[in-house]
Amino acid sequence: MKITVVGAGAVGATVADNIARKQLCHELVLVDIKEGIAEGKAMDMNQTASLLGFDTRITGSTNDYTKTAGTDVAVITSGIPRKPGMTREELIGTNASIVKDVTENILKHSPNAIIVVISNPMDTMTYLALKSSGLPKNRIIGMGGILDSARFKYYLSQSLYCSPSDLHAVVVGGHGDTTMIPLTRLATLNGNPVSNLLSAEALDKVAADTMVGGATLTKLIGTSAWYAPGAAGAALVESIVRDQKKVFPCCVSLNDEYGQNDICLGVPVVIGKGGWEQIVDYKLTTSEQEAFNKSAEAVRSMNSVLATLSL
Ligand code: LAC
Repeated sequence: MKITVVGAGAVGATVADNIARKQLCHELVLVDIKEGIAEGKAMDMNQTASLLGFDTRITGSTNDYTKTAGTDVAVITSGIPRKPGMTREELIGTNASIVKDVTENILKHSPNAIIVVISNPMDTMTYLALKSSGLPKNRIIGMGGILDSARFKYYLSQSLYCSPSDLHAVVVGGHGDTTMIPLTRLATLNGNPVSNLLSAEALDKVAADTMVGGATLTKLIGTSAWYAPGAAGAALVESIVRDQKKVFPCCVSLNDEYGQNDICLGVPVVIGKGGWEQIVDYKLTTSEQEAFNKSAEAVRSMNSVLATLSL
């Protein structure tokens, strides 16, 4: 098993760190365009191996994709992160050409790789990677929903004073401050609907806090978050390489599922060695479906910007 992480910034390095700690592969390659960054962070992580007890070997590479040859799973985190006050959508012009180039470079050396997209705006970058590569749809997975769902569980656990891992809670739709949809109706604490435990107002506040979860952190830190995005990316990779068949909300190509077409958007999918293997139908209510359609509209209008860029 060989895994490549492209982009050795905070998110990419944290994905790599989590992958190594979980021993998901023997060979892990970290790539960055800035001279020395990937090599340095790879060496730093390798020096934790004896302390943390992992055998994964991490190789750093300054844009040399020959080192990534034979990759089974590639995680793309490249691009600029958002600054306080910026939306994820504002990154599209800069990040589109980067994500397209990276996808091409990966596939040139690893034609069978499964591609995980984390770069923002994630829904549009996933769509771009799918369209520009022509890969089978099951091999392109956008990671946003796992992170948003982890934040949803965090805010629920703060209100309920419970263990976050006792919660099941899912965010579908886009990975944007106004496009994501925390499905409060389906959230449970060990099977008990959270609506039995929290007032409607408290649940609305949890949903609202979840939606701006990334922006809240960006404002505090001055750049976008990395611990939860990194852990969420590694959880997705783990379900692929261990063929766990976990159901995660991920951004995938829809062909009539959830009433949408020609778009990549967050829905619950089964994740295993084939990439995303199946879309799970949560049977949305009319108002949830309306919110999903609105989210799709917003993402579609972002996707239309791609045609105006010279990629
Ligand atoms: C966030 C970025 C990674 O939500 O999209 O923190």
